[in-house]
Amino acid sequence: MPNLLQILFPAKVDYKTEFDFTQFPMTEIVKQNREGLQEVPDWFDRKAMEESCFQYGVPDFIRDKINKPLNDDFTYTDLMVALSRKHFPNKLHYLEIGVSVGKNFYQMLKAVSNGEFTGFDIEEINPVLETKLSFQSKESWSSPRSSIKKTDSSVKTYSFDGNPVRYISGDVWDENSWKKLHGKKFNLIFSDALHSSDAILFEFEMIVKYDLLDEKFLIFWDDLHGKMRKAFLNIVRKYNEKFMIKDVYLIQINGWIGQHENQHPVGIISNIPL
Ligand SMILES: C[S@@+](CC[C@H](N)C(=O)[O-])C[C@H]1O[C@@H](n2cnc3c(N)ncnc32)[C@H](O)[C@@H]1O
Repeated sequence: MPNLLQILFPAKVDYKTEFDFTQFPMTEIVKQNREGLQEVPDWFDRKAMEESCFQYGVPDFIRDKINKPLNDDFTYTDLMVALSRKHFPNKLHYLEIGVSVGKNFYQMLKAVSNGEFTGFDIEEINPVLETKLSFQSKESWSSPRSSIKKTDSSVKTYSFDGNPVRYISGDVWDENSWKKLHGKKFNLIFSDALHSSDAILFEFEMIVKYDLLDEKFLIFWDDLHGKMRKAFLNIVRKYNEKFMIKDVYLIQINGWIGQHENQHPVGIISNIPL
């Protein structure tokens, strides 16, 4: 139990705000990621958009920018690829919560030769992304009545270049979606779905409850503005000791549409020195 002083003056979390990119072959990674994106001239599928819950998280103001080429400024994807190659060269076990049209997910699939990839989003898998994958199976369940998702939830499996791919079309608030992940371990998680403090706290409780973290892991959170940043720091404080967190970063970096919008505040934790 924390004492009154700890409640009133919670321990300061020492985080870094600059990342040392010189340790990675960034030129090669950036080139490969930009080429991967260029393979897909248009990420939009009109019918899927019409049937979506949240238009795949693509608000109108960035809609015309989603297909625009990115310059060579580093993105969170470039950093994830660099860290995956350095820390998990034998096998990446990747979970992306909030896949949208699949821009980041597809670059990860292309950049990592030995991995297992899980996407989780309230939307159905974007048909544009799905055409890149070889379908294997589908299992469905009823979404909760309270969910904004009015169709059944599902888990679909595929393969991509010999690597297994899983896509959960479900609500992060639906614990049944998380149950589908029970027994799996992830060494890289990217949290980029519902950008609210309650949602990222709930997600993390699910990750802990279903024991989803591998022995060595790295977690990225996107868009840590205001209350989201507080929630992130609360997660660090609460789980610091349990997971022996070694590094905490809060950096500004380009996101899924690169230089066409402001940099994103991204939080990273890991139990290995990065
Ligand atoms: C910002 S986009 C993800 C971008 C993607 N990670 C990338 O970098 O290319 C956010 C996604 O979260 C999804 N999302 C929002 N609320 C959700 C919820 N309750 N459950 C699952 N996914 C949700 C949206 O459908 C949207 O596709």
